[in-house]
Amino acid sequence: MLSSTRELLETARRHIYAIGAFNIYNLEGVRAVVSAAEAVQSPAMLQIHPSSLKYGGSPLVSLCLEAARSATVPISVHLDHSTSAEAIRFALEAGMNSIMADGSHLPYAENLSFTREMTQLAHRYGAVVEAEIGRISGTEDGLSVAEKEAKMTDPVQAGEFVRATQVDALAVTIGNVHGEYRSEPRLDFDRLIRIGETVGKDMLLVLHGASGLPAAMISRSIQLGVCKFNVNTEVRQAYMHTLQSDICNARKADLLPCMEQSIAAMQQVVIEKMQLFGSGNKAHLHQTPYAQMLTNTVR
Ligand code: 13P
Repeated sequence: MLSSTRELLETARRHIYAIGAFNIYNLEGVRAVVSAAEAVQSPAMLQIHPSSLKYGGSPLVSLCLEAARSATVPISVHLDHSTSAEAIRFALEAGMNSIMADGSHLPYAENLSFTREMTQLAHRYGAVVEAEIGRISGTEDGLSVAEKEAKMTDPVQAGEFVRATQVDALAVTIGNVHGEYRSEPRLDFDRLIRIGETVGKDMLLVLHGASGLPAAMISRSIQLGVCKFNVNTEVRQAYMHTLQSDICNARKADLLPCMEQSIAAMQQVVIEKMQLFGSGNKAHLHQTPYAQMLTNTVR
């Protein structure tokens, strides 16, 4: 069932687990996430990056929305990392449940005004808004400790930022990176505690770069209020690995078995993540289908 992002995240936080938001590119990715969610009775988010949105356009959004509607477990559809007002408007018009207004590449004051403007827009559609301060890197290799810390979310600024912008969710940078962790991941949990205190108990906390994070870090983050993890790299790697395997490359290889095998490979990774996030067997806690919530205009 198509569900509200707010309901998914608030329920997860209340019951101390987290929702996996999985980046998808096409039908195979959507099938992998939805079938994983159904297999372990977990809620989930289908997440589209702006470059995938550019590639797939309305058909990709419709695919996600329709897959969510016909799923037997709660699913919402989210726009990831959008730096463009145009893409955000497109996503909202198309009926996506939530957006990330990403002004983290901008100087602080510009990030604040972009985020505030996008939040006002998204709230008119009843959509949930995620934003970021601090800057999540592709990799931290070659950075000094001081440089790493400078990119992390400043707790005092975080409090000021969420009050000024009225966002619903905040993606924190506490040592998490996108892509592979080239060295042992280190998350600054003291910083996360201070962020939690300054942004207030209603703020939904998000951690990007969940690929490669060990179980203990995932569960500590959840204990400290993180209720959404973004996952891309590990699922994408499972897909690409299958594309290089015999089932896709043997002389008589055919497309459908190759795609089915890719779905199975991605599904396995997604299930593992759902179990790590504690969202397996939690679908029953999210009872309200999105259609019923429309009266409250909450996406
Ligand atoms: P990973 O690719 O590291 O899993 O991160 C995904 C992400 O944070 C997308 O916003």
